[in-house]
Amino acid sequence: MPSRTPPPMVRINIPTVNISEAWAPTPLRKQRLGVRFIKLYMPCLLIISLVINIYYFTRPEPLSLPSALATTKMPLHRQREYTEVDYTHLTDLVLVVGHGVYMGEGSPLNESSWFLLNEQRGEVGAFMAHIGQGIELAMEHDRVLLLFSGGKTRLGAGAHSEAQGYWAAADKMGWLNKDIYRRVLTEEFARDSYENVLFSIARFREITGKYPDRVTVVGFEFKRDRFMNLHRHALKYPKIRFNYVGINPPGDVNRMAKGERKNGFSLFEKDLYGCSDQLAKKKVVRNPFMMSHGYAKSCPEIAGLFDYCPGNPTAIYEGDLPWLS
Ligand SMILES: *[C@@H]1O[C@H](CO)[C@@H](O)[C@H](O)[C@H]1NC(C)=O
Repeated sequence: MPSRTPPPMVRINIPTVNISEAWAPTPLRKQRLGVRFIKLYMPCLLIISLVINIYYFTRPEPLSLPSALATTKMPLHRQREYTEVDYTHLTDLVLVVGHGVYMGEGSPLNESSWFLLNEQRGEVGAFMAHIGQGIELAMEHDRVLLLFSGGKTRLGAGAHSEAQGYWAAADKMGWLNKDIYRRVLTEEFARDSYENVLFSIARFREITGKYPDRVTVVGFEFKRDRFMNLHRHALKYPKIRFNYVGINPPGDVNRMAKGERKNGFSLFEKDLYGCSDQLAKKKVVRNPFMMSHGYAKSCPEIAGLFDYCPGNPTAIYEGDLPWLS
């Protein structure tokens, strides 16, 4: 029970002040104060003033803009025109597989605007054809979500991803018109062709809340088999709902096909999920900026696929998959 007795009273002694006495001006005291002020406070003021002056004349100059920036009249924002999209209505995924990296400046049709490996010289026209093909598919069908897929795979390209580069190239060409602008997005983590497919399906889920009814891959014709028969097979994606549009770069098609057999198809054939030996090492090399995706979290239905790496590298994933039901 709380005590009901009131707290003890405390007596506070307030000193009384004789106001008339305290405020009585005495000319004598004022004079003394004036002398004291000059003797004591003036030197202090002089020192303070000196310090302020020294600070003022030695203070750092405000940072000035580099002259190039100061003279360039950049628009604060571009006026975009776009039709709003209800993403939950989209059903078709079109993914364009990234190869080189467009650096964002100069014409994307000019090879020197791209970061390329030596063996990619001469292929920029094909990259642009892939981008154009993806755009055309998006324009033809209003239920298409177009994704450019490819991570920040090259140290020399800086922090530009392949996907960003493709998007910027399409933009530079004026291809992102208002009907498709909001349906053209990027997938920025893939480090190989298997990840291009898996991660783009995951991005579709992130954006629309569901998995695509159809998947169309746009890439090199000489890689068709790898996508159709290995990656699609590894993901158990129904053949009837999986398409491939192939456009080859100029040059000797037989040589390309041979190279693909040796350095692409045969590696994934022995290692369907690209997670052992050579293919795993390739992925480390293709991730110089040490990026990691969050698809396992955004796509809980297929979370098991992202780190699936069976002891037998050709053992097909046994878990449930949304596109099988
Ligand atoms: C491509 O870009 C380079 C570097 O900017 C330039 O020197 C060259 O003239 C360009 N080529 C064409 C065909 O425009």
